[in-house]
Amino acid sequence: MSTALITGASAGIGAAYAKRLAARGHDLVLVARSTEKLTALALDLQTRHDIKVEAITCDLSDPVQLQELARRIRIAPPADILINNAGTNVPGGFVDTADEDLERLIRLNMTAPTLLAHAAIAGMASRGSGAIVNISSVIGVATEITSGIYGATKAYLLTLSQSLTHEFGAAGVYVQAVLPGATRTDIWQHAGLDISQINGLMEVDDLVDAALVGFDRRETVTIPPLPDVHQWEAFETARLAMRPNFANSKPAARYRAPS
Ligand SMILES: NC(=O)c1ccc[n+]([C@@H]2O[C@H](COP(=O)([O-])OP(=O)(O)OC[C@H]3O[C@@H](n4cnc5c(N)ncnc54)[C@H](OP(=O)(O)O)[C@@H]3O)[C@@H](O)[C@H]2O)c1
Repeated sequence: MSTALITGASAGIGAAYAKRLAARGHDLVLVARSTEKLTALALDLQTRHDIKVEAITCDLSDPVQLQELARRIRIAPPADILINNAGTNVPGGFVDTADEDLERLIRLNMTAPTLLAHAAIAGMASRGSGAIVNISSVIGVATEITSGIYGATKAYLLTLSQSLTHEFGAAGVYVQAVLPGATRTDIWQHAGLDISQINGLMEVDDLVDAALVGFDRRETVTIPPLPDVHQWEAFETARLAMRPNFANSKPAARYRAPS
């Protein structure tokens, strides 16, 4: 059976993925900072299911620890599924957030998934199979919902997923962007927000079950809370319709300098 590597597996959405993928019979590599939580989850899943589970303590916002994990992905028995889930938000808006907090957020939400995908994808392409799941957010599309750079980091993961699909889909690598809406996890507390004030909160198991339906259908983009998929399809159709119109040697008429 194949192996799935899940980042941010000690809590929330990542822990729910671990439980669901264990039930499907995948061996697991669980990654997060909290050794105790990871070890307890690993033991529990090994006992319940006849699978191998490895727990790796790693702070993905630390460049040295991230490189070590990426190195391991390159040399170790391959991860057939990479779930790039670890991510967070920080309290405050753009101006209030310290430079080092912005950098740490970029390293966790953008650099880590990028370098882990980079480490995994060449092997997947040469084997002609493999899957990368990037946990983005509806805020990557509806960036006005929040302040700060969180939405921009999630928009990056959506675009990255589409680019990798374009580049590696034909080689047999499946890449999925999952865009959760508000989901009941500790992320709200970490962002300094009161979860009781949030409307339309989805339970984490419902979110992951829906994401896995999209995974099984090989959707490139899965948006569990969006009732009408035609809205997303219309958005994508409008985006792609612009493409032939970008190749022009002269600026559009509306940008001509007044004579
Ligand atoms: N919950 C929502 O409403 C929502 C909505 C849209 C998208 N998302 C996305 O879903 C993903 C999972 O979030 P969640 O809601 O499940 O949050 P969560 O409950 O706070 O879990 C975050 C996970 O990431 C791990 N993590 C945090 N910082 C880390 C670091 N520096 N290095 C390694 N692991 C780290 C945490 O474990 P340790 O603390 O043990 O390291 C934990 O396992 C995130 O990418 C988030 O942006 C969440």
